[in-house]
Amino acid sequence: MPHITAFARNQWYVAAFTYEVGRELVGRTVLGEPLVLYRAEMDGAAVVLSDRCVHRRFPLSASRLDGDRIVCGYHGFTYDTTGACVGVPGQTRIPRSARVTSYPVVEQDLFVWVWIGDPAIADPASVPRAAHMDSPDWTTVSGMEPVEADYGLLVDNLLDLSHETYLHGGYIGTPEVAETPITTEVDKEAGVVRVSRRMADAACPPFYARSTGIEGRITRWQDIEYHAPCLYLLHSRIAPAGVLPEADGSDPAAFHTEITYAITPSAEGRVYDFWAVSRDFARSDDGVSAFMRDLNHTVVMQDVEALDLLQRTLASEPAGYREVSVGIDAGGLAARRILARLVEEGDKPGEGVR
Ligand code: FES
Ligand SMILES: [Fe+2]
Repeated sequence: MPHITAFARNQWYVAAFTYEVGRELVGRTVLGEPLVLYRAEMDGAAVVLSDRCVHRRFPLSASRLDGDRIVCGYHGFTYDTTGACVGVPGQTRIPRSARVTSYPVVEQDLFVWVWIGDPAIADPASVPRAAHMDSPDWTTVSGMEPVEADYGLLVDNLLDLSHETYLHGGYIGTPEVAETPITTEVDKEAGVVRVSRRMADAACPPFYARSTGIEGRITRWQDIEYHAPCLYLLHSRIAPAGVLPEADGSDPAAFHTEITYAITPSAEGRVYDFWAVSRDFARSDDGVSAFMRDLNHTVVMQDVEALDLLQRTLASEPAGYREVSVGIDAGGLAARRILARLVEEGDKPGEGVR
């Protein structure tokens, strides 16, 4: 795999959690485009504009808000929520070309989704759902880490959880994760990859032992659902070994966790790792929330460190190195094929939407 994965532009990407966007200007870079985000007072909607003033390219994220307008922190060019320049210092005439790009935005499931590609084909209905993130039936902890690595490396990482045993042993990994074979299903049309690993009798890693209170062996299901390019859902089911769902599908004896990642290419060799852990048990227990937040953050930082190292390593290799892929890579390889197709289709205007 080349250590630089091309970006599919005509797609929705997460730029922030909804709670990050308020009356402070936030700077983010998505698909190499610098963005400034804020929330308008007028209607409470998130606004996403290009983060470069048209005058001398000062970052608007380092500027200030005056009501719902951004006043450039360098010489005062002023922009409204649509990106139109509505004021320049020392003259009443505003050049017609004085406008910064405004990007389509959808706020859904605790995420602020943006569309960087052709706005004419941005369909809000095509944003994939992660309804548990913002549901009263689940309690969610979340965070974001920037990674100095190609975004394909993070996709690879999340689609092959056998690394939990080696990179995250003592946290979320146990020997059974790497030992248990996976099943993989690909829905090419929808751009979805599903990878399942169901362990009938496994050790309970500290992440689940402490949060659920289960002692002893467990049955552990990991069902991944990756909606290329950005949204990754891991449906996790934990129950004492031998306990299965009821015949009618109800599952009262199990503990369910939804682990959500949004994988957003920032720039070449950089990716945002948005993570969230939602649980349907001990929902109002702040101690469990703090534990899951801290432990998952530790796990994410183990990935960040490994991927930073891998990126530096690959970048120093001569071109044309070979990889050896095995059974555990089925999901990751399917994801690479879908991403390559999305890039190809997105290059043809009007054909990039699913
Ligand atoms: S750079 Fe923004 S007003 Fe001059
Ligand atoms: Fe990991």
